[in-house]
Amino acid sequence: MTDTKDPKSTPKAIVGTADNMRAVYDRFATHGANAESLGSASEIDSAASRIRNFFVALPKGARVLDVGPGRGDESVMAQALGLEVTGLELSEKMQQLYKRNVPKAATILGDMTAIDDKFAQAFDAVFCSFSFLHLPREKGILALGQFAKVLKPSGKLFLLTLIGEGVGDMNSGRDFLAEAGIESWYFYHWKLEDLIAQLEKLKFQITKQEVFQPIPGRPAAVAIEASFGTRAR
Ligand SMILES: C[S@@+](CC[C@H](N)C(=O)[O-])C[C@H]1O[C@@H](n2cnc3c(N)ncnc32)[C@H](O)[C@@H]1O
Repeated sequence: MTDTKDPKSTPKAIVGTADNMRAVYDRFATHGANAESLGSASEIDSAASRIRNFFVALPKGARVLDVGPGRGDESVMAQALGLEVTGLELSEKMQQLYKRNVPKAATILGDMTAIDDKFAQAFDAVFCSFSFLHLPREKGILALGQFAKVLKPSGKLFLLTLIGEGVGDMNSGRDFLAEAGIESWYFYHWKLEDLIAQLEKLKFQITKQEVFQPIPGRPAAVAIEASFGTRAR
């Protein structure tokens, strides 16, 4: 039987679905070393170089919304490159971790599918790495609309997400999931042409689109860069 008074006791396992991502990430953020085991995009060389190139091309002082920043490694990189970062995080516990790791960043506790209207046209760039992949397609379309809303005209989007065929579930061979008591983890793999079509419908002009393999043997990813409401330059 689990002793609820013992902080080391294993909490009840969570079956991750698209609807309880907040609980999944609250667990990652608070259960042992799991926020560390989870890693971040910038620990993967092929992703880090693309992220860095995107940040470097933005003017110093540009306001960047880091969507689903997790523990905030990419926000740290953006700040070091002279950008003004705000992290928008779904999980309160992850947000606490983010505040500790990126104390100079502003943060918003919220869902990328419903960003407060007070942030309309507030950002020069939206950076969204490996968080959009937790939304099913219809919610993903909502999030893209929110990115369009919060960007200034000509604002830049960086979207790093998994591609392939529909719903995936990365629950095998990842010891840290079991250690955190998470039985499965919801991912949606977009068809690349579908994702591009949705972005173009929202008046994003695609400026870069690179398919690569972040982790050997795992699904492919795409790094998309787009400019909002302008002709690609
Ligand atoms: C795999 S981590 C990605 C962390 C970091 N961006 C990276 O690239 O390594 C996904 C993060 O997205 C957050 N997230 C998931 N769904 C979200 C949503 N609907 N709105 C905002 N954040 C969300 C999670 O809480 C988690 O911190």
